[in-house]
Amino acid sequence: MGVSEYIYVSMTLSRQSLDMPCLHRKLSCCTLSNGHYVLNIDNFSGKLTAQGWLNYYIPAMQSQISQLQEQFQRELSETDLNEEQSVENLRLKYLGKKGLLTDLLKGMGALSAEERPVFGKQVNELKAAVLEAIEQAKEKAALNAMNKKLSIGKLDISLPGEGYRYGSTHPLYDIREEIIDFFANMGFHVDLGRDIETDWYNFEALNMPKDHPSRDMQDTFYLSQNAVLRTHTSGTQIHYMENRKPPIRMIALGHVFRVDADATHAPMFQQCEGLVVDENITFAQLKGTLAMFAQKLFGENAKTRFRPSFFPFTEPSAELDVSCVFCEGKGCRKCKGTGWMEIGGCGSVDPAVFDNVGIDPEKYTGFAFGFGLDRIAMLRHHIPEISLLTSNDQRFLEQF
Ligand code: PHE
Repeated sequence: MGVSEYIYVSMTLSRQSLDMPCLHRKLSCCTLSNGHYVLNIDNFSGKLTAQGWLNYYIPAMQSQISQLQEQFQRELSETDLNEEQSVENLRLKYLGKKGLLTDLLKGMGALSAEERPVFGKQVNELKAAVLEAIEQAKEKAALNAMNKKLSIGKLDISLPGEGYRYGSTHPLYDIREEIIDFFANMGFHVDLGRDIETDWYNFEALNMPKDHPSRDMQDTFYLSQNAVLRTHTSGTQIHYMENRKPPIRMIALGHVFRVDADATHAPMFQQCEGLVVDENITFAQLKGTLAMFAQKLFGENAKTRFRPSFFPFTEPSAELDVSCVFCEGKGCRKCKGTGWMEIGGCGSVDPAVFDNVGIDPEKYTGFAFGFGLDRIAMLRHHIPEISLLTSNDQRFLEQF
């Protein structure tokens, strides 16, 4: 059979325009890579009618589908499943915009309305099969790629992890937040005041006249004749009372400074002082407030005791003791056998202080209290040295 005996028919030609050889001849059909069909006709003679062409066009499409299927199977088996890119290339070759299967689908435009669903079904089935096979191949390729990476990296997944190093808040900061929380909930304002005070605010207005022995209670850093690093936060309360009228409920928080240094005293520490001023404020209210506060800091079982004492700015004055956190009041070495620990000072505001800030002591009464945050932190965390709180030693800080 010579080349002249082949008829080349472009897939895109419409049926009507085909001028085909006669139907009763024996025909066979195959596809060329350029997308043309070759009808092999023995003893070529006559013309093929449009219907006759169709009878050959259908088997031609079918054979093209099965050829494509075989071709795909072959190429898939030849694809390197260790390379994700080669699987992707295979996908593009068949399913891409200009892919072989896509072309085949496009070619269906030349079919009639009856034929289209028949081929559509077959082509779509092939497409689904190709898609699935490629998905599987992709998964395999991804797995192979990961295994390859793992074997190269020699990753020992049994090694313990490095973990994250979390930071934590400083114990003094925590206590400060707790104190603010407690008093703010009871309606107290918070005032941080200032580190440097004049003699008036730190001493004089608080009923501690110049050259009075009561000043000896607080060893003072003098910055000048008239300016000091505050020895307590009571000065903040003088500022506060000067600028406001009762009722007053406030706490003054911050660093204070004293010429003092041993295991339990530092030249700088933190204090919190409270002040309540209104008509009919009593010592009983002071006791109730501080009893609740002690329970908040040291737990439900914490007991409080008010021991008579002296402060120039309160009258009467008391030391506030809390049942020992180490022995729960039984008596141990830490509380020197007494079962109690001293937390701070308190009392009813001395009328002389009210006079100094222009509040009428006949009309108003008040109470005040003050304690050290460092001491509370030491008690709570059993810290033996006050300097640990400010020395920034990671080994210490990391325990909180
Ligand atoms: N200011 C006192 C001190 O620093 C504490 C205190 C405050 C005592 C308020 C009584 C009332 O020691």
